[in-house]
Amino acid sequence: MKNILRILFIALLGNADVTAGEVPLDSLNLANVRQGWGNAASNKSVGGKPLTIGGQKFERGIGTHAVSVMYLRLQGQGQRFTASVGVDDEVAGQPASVEFQVIGDDKVLWESGLMKAGTPPRKVSVELGGVKTLVLVVEDGEDGIASDHADWADARVAMLGESRPEVIAMPVEEAVILTPKPGLAPCLHGPKIYGCRPGHPFFYRVPCTGERPLSYSAQGLPAGLKLDSQTGIITGTTPERGEYAVKLQAQNRHGKSERRFKLVAGDKLALTPPMGFNDWYAYLDHVTDAKMRYAADTMIANGMVDAGYQYVNVDDCWMGKRSADGNLAGNEKFPDMKGLADYIHSQGLKAGLYTSPGPKTCAGYEGSYQHEAQDARRFAEWGFDFLKYDWCSYRSIAPNAPELADYQKPYRQMGDLLAHQDRDIVFNLCQYGMGDVWKWGAAVGGHAWRTSDDLGIELNRVFQVALKNCGLRDYHKPGEWNDPDYIQIGWFNNTKAPFTPSESYSFMALWCLMAAPLFYSGDMERLDEFTLSILCNPEVIEVDQDPLGQCARVVDKHRFTFVLVKDLEDGSKAVGLCNSGEVAADVAAQWKDLGVTGPQMVRDLWQEKDLGEFTGHFSRRIPRHGVVLVRLNAKETGKRP
Ligand code: GAL
Repeated sequence: MKNILRILFIALLGNADVTAGEVPLDSLNLANVRQGWGNAASNKSVGGKPLTIGGQKFERGIGTHAVSVMYLRLQGQGQRFTASVGVDDEVAGQPASVEFQVIGDDKVLWESGLMKAGTPPRKVSVELGGVKTLVLVVEDGEDGIASDHADWADARVAMLGESRPEVIAMPVEEAVILTPKPGLAPCLHGPKIYGCRPGHPFFYRVPCTGERPLSYSAQGLPAGLKLDSQTGIITGTTPERGEYAVKLQAQNRHGKSERRFKLVAGDKLALTPPMGFNDWYAYLDHVTDAKMRYAADTMIANGMVDAGYQYVNVDDCWMGKRSADGNLAGNEKFPDMKGLADYIHSQGLKAGLYTSPGPKTCAGYEGSYQHEAQDARRFAEWGFDFLKYDWCSYRSIAPNAPELADYQKPYRQMGDLLAHQDRDIVFNLCQYGMGDVWKWGAAVGGHAWRTSDDLGIELNRVFQVALKNCGLRDYHKPGEWNDPDYIQIGWFNNTKAPFTPSESYSFMALWCLMAAPLFYSGDMERLDEFTLSILCNPEVIEVDQDPLGQCARVVDKHRFTFVLVKDLEDGSKAVGLCNSGEVAADVAAQWKDLGVTGPQMVRDLWQEKDLGEFTGHFSRRIPRHGVVLVRLNAKETGKRP
């Protein structure tokens, strides 16, 4: 009643004469605030000191850390939000940079712009009208969240009557599977172009969805190669140098599928980004031989292999001690490395492993330093098809201020050794982008190189890493891939990845638009239907595996929204409408930015559904941290690739 009278009073007299009850936000329960590091604190900084911005002390307020999101339920009772915001002085001299946003019911009401350590506090005062939910956001200033200690000093909401705001949990997004299940009729997938080296053992398992049993055949398969019509596994010896146009076929009682598959026997491998499983984020140092075999079996049973995943790669922690003659063996968790590779091969899949050019790996196991040639030989004898070479303790070998040649040395050495083995071994450089590795990774024998540090499970870095990689697109081509690290949706090391459904879709969409190597690194024992549907959408993977091997380019970049466009071999374009912000936003892809004209058929790739013909532009409201992925085609419509 009291509230109703107050509202009437305001309606008649206007706001000016009414002083609503001001609720200091530090008096609320802050348990639901989400932030990138530490916990939101009342009346002190996130580091536990008095709140201080640009030399000015504040008695009250909230200390937080980017990226921070606070949802306040106001139920239309809030009148005004006021605060003084800035980076806390406790990180003076450090590279802190943040941006504050005040958002009411999905509309940005106020933005601070970029603020750094030492920037004087900025005052916020926004009228709230009938806002139901107020969201206070601190974004990082596009340079990572390190040192981003941020204060909402003196933060208050003027409320009507006795009502009080409440800090609520972020609304939960429903996990909706957008992709239809594969049909019963056969549908061949996988790369349309495949590099291999003459005279080496050849094996390839043809990816195909559809009801089993399937019967496989191939036209134009060069002599020396044989396709098993029941398993779809091609084995034999790679023919002499040249290009071989093969037509693969698969048939069952529901129909038939055909797909071209060009073999390029020459020097290059990985002509499309390698795809598979790597155990690192899933199991860390508790990986075992049994877990790797289980991963291989599961990839077959759950359809990942049918969608194109091929490699089963052991990361760190498999090494035991060297014998007196310097030969390396697996440790007690990996008693038979050759047996493991043989097992993976027996399923038609490829096996990968990891070591370091230093004396020790990152996790402290035996590295390859001064045993490089012996190890390369041994890995080949065991039958491994992929090597990740991780800088790690090579730090102690490299000079203090390494020059380019120092960064290159260990990789050139191993690249050369691998190229001389009697099998195709894809070489993955892992040194976190030092010395602009993208400029020379291929020259030292690499097929892919990590462009940054470990991704960790931090969503904000997913958008950042994608933007960074797109900036390196000129160094990215068939057989030479920028590697943004593994896909981490689902479960890891007994923890559920903290991604919303939109974020999970975005992760995969961005990786495919970048033509990134696609390595799933989640727990294979806990792969749920939703995660699997994201990993295995064939039209999305087709974007990743397109034979042109282009990384998308960024067009129309705003602070939190941007459009990615990638040219595909058939003349169509893959387009991502991206929103890295904390609230939904409208994003439009303009034909002039995409380089297309006239009417375009727009197909939603997650849903595998044509959305219709559009002219001039295509726009959508994109959810928080969302990407809508479409394919634009001027010629054909609704055709599954
Ligand atoms: C890191 C590497 C990770 C993982 C880990 C193993 O240096 O970037 O991807 O391989 O070592 O210890």
